[in-house]
Amino acid sequence: MPRIAYVNGAYSRLADASTNIEDRGYQFSDGVYEVCLVVDGKYWDMAGHIARLWRSLEALSIRKPIGDGALKIIMAKVLRLNKLRDALVYIQVSRGVAPRNHPFPDAADPTLVVTARPFDLAKSNATAGKGVALVTQPDIRWGRVDVKSVSLLPNVLAKQAAKRVGAAEALLIKDGKVTEGASSNAWILTAEGVLVTHPLGHEILGGITRQTTLDRARELQIPIEERAFTLAEAHEAQEVFITSATNIVTPVVRIDDHIVGDGAPGPVALRLREAYIDFSRRDA
Ligand code: PDD
Repeated sequence: MPRIAYVNGAYSRLADASTNIEDRGYQFSDGVYEVCLVVDGKYWDMAGHIARLWRSLEALSIRKPIGDGALKIIMAKVLRLNKLRDALVYIQVSRGVAPRNHPFPDAADPTLVVTARPFDLAKSNATAGKGVALVTQPDIRWGRVDVKSVSLLPNVLAKQAAKRVGAAEALLIKDGKVTEGASSNAWILTAEGVLVTHPLGHEILGGITRQTTLDRARELQIPIEERAFTLAEAHEAQEVFITSATNIVTPVVRIDDHIVGDGAPGPVALRLREAYIDFSRRDA
């Protein structure tokens, strides 16, 4: 069955779906995106993802192309047309099409794209049950990575460095501190049993999964510190894990050549993953 994509009001075969070559998303990375997880036909954390999409647009002064209700209808229709109940839904908004010139165009309609691809929760659970490896990479990104911009070249290079050695993700290091992953947030559980993750601000993307995981950790009465941590702290940690819409909560068992803890996925990470999944299946 051909995949179906939404572009500016039209649903068509993904292979035929397109925007103009003078789309500012294509020429300037002048756009933002979201990735939302759907399991059993139910969106997890949808409100958080949509709210962040609007925040990202606002940060870049890109006009909102559509309201919440209409966007949700499009997201539902894309799933239906692709016959998907378990999916990762991708939403992208660019500033639109205009003759190439750096300043904002006087008049351009934002380009809205929505696509979906299958997601396999059982496979994701199996990956989490084994744990993943990370490699460290310098964080060479710009100063506003809290905006979920499609300008992802440093993330692409870091992820490729991970892939080259068979690792799942790159851990980004800035001024001696771990900021986050190339497409995930990073966490440690210290030897004292404190959960640590980088605080919100301009230096990380405020993950929607990060927030829901913090909420679950509070419910489980796990002590939390939102502060930057060093690579040495990650090496000494009992557990390391990453969170994102695509990874949910995934334990890390190796960072470069260093084995994390006893080399097995951390029980606290797995407990948080389970709590996250239970909550998301229940939550309206
Ligand atoms: N990435 N940090 C970065 C740099 C990210 O790209 C992402 C998500 C996250 C986690 O955010 P959330 O929990 O809201 O998914 C953190 C998506 C999944 C991607 O680029 O594919």
